[in-house]
Amino acid sequence: MIRDATPEAIADAAALLRRGGVVAFPTETVYGLGADATNAAAVATIFAVKARPAFDPLIVHVDTLARARTVVRGLEGEALRLAERYWPGPLTLVLPKHASIPDIVTAGLPTVGVRLPGHAVARGLIAAADRPVAAPSANPFGYVSPTTAAHVADQLGDAVPLILDGGPCAVGLESTIVSFADGQPALLRSGAITLEALQSLLGSVRVETDAPLPSAPGQLPRHYAPRTPLVLIDSTADVPMTARHGAALLTPGPVADAVGFRHVEQLTPDGDLLVAATRLFAALRRLDSGDCTRVYAVRMPEAGIGRAIMDRLRRASA
Ligand code: TXA
Ligand code: MG
Repeated sequence: MIRDATPEAIADAAALLRRGGVVAFPTETVYGLGADATNAAAVATIFAVKARPAFDPLIVHVDTLARARTVVRGLEGEALRLAERYWPGPLTLVLPKHASIPDIVTAGLPTVGVRLPGHAVARGLIAAADRPVAAPSANPFGYVSPTTAAHVADQLGDAVPLILDGGPCAVGLESTIVSFADGQPALLRSGAITLEALQSLLGSVRVETDAPLPSAPGQLPRHYAPRTPLVLIDSTADVPMTARHGAALLTPGPVADAVGFRHVEQLTPDGDLLVAATRLFAALRRLDSGDCTRVYAVRMPEAGIGRAIMDRLRRASA
């Protein structure tokens, strides 16, 4: 059931979490499917609802730096600088895990991802539950992440007793993940906190978003994927008229020639990539629920948030 995230609804959701239940809630990145991160049985429900493989570790959400220190060890040095600069916000830090976090949360890894989200409803829920909240994106494993409460209800509705509606997500792409597993910062997943921003704060940052042996399924070649086949193009000139019939065009901004496509998703009037990011996943869902046989997606420059958008599009096209 979807409920507006009123103080009463947040209190009910917190009570559900404390009893070992699962709740879907808004964050500034995407909607999450949450459970008490210290309750292994509750966390197991998340894996069941999402049909998520047990090798895929969850991110633990907190409302304060003090609670983060109950989840991870070694939040100091460069990791602390990142936290102080970007929390609350779309950044996940991977650090050695605290003993209070059961192995099911981390898929047996000695490290855990922790994030202090920017959305006030998410923080209010965690504070009311008085627990760290483990939460993956609230979608079936491998599919496009939800950026509205309705997206969650469409796919997981029957399995989730309560979906808190906090409006459409302001960022629209999953958080940037930076790992300190070996002490040095490594980018595991691109997001709204850009590589350029991380480098300007820390100096050098290893990029492991396409590591051959992924430690994050967000690194899997195929992930975040719609059912409709998606093909990346440099411009619509790459698509002959005969191939446009029945196909959709997905573009961040205006294109010179969109003649002959069955459907066009132009994410913004002017190509502003920050805005395009907020609209990408909703557009992919619309394309999937239509009758187009194929999606042609126009590439964008891989700098700033363009890197995160292209990361999702490349995995969607794999
Ligand atoms: O923006 C977000 O991060 C959203 C919202 C709900 O906060 N959550 C999210 O969770 O995207 P999920 O489960 O869809 O993606 C979590 C990613 C996975 O690829 C997982 O493998 C990686 O984080 N991850 C979690 N813990 C890790 C660890 N200890 N080491 C490496 N990767 C980890
Ligand atoms: Mg996910």
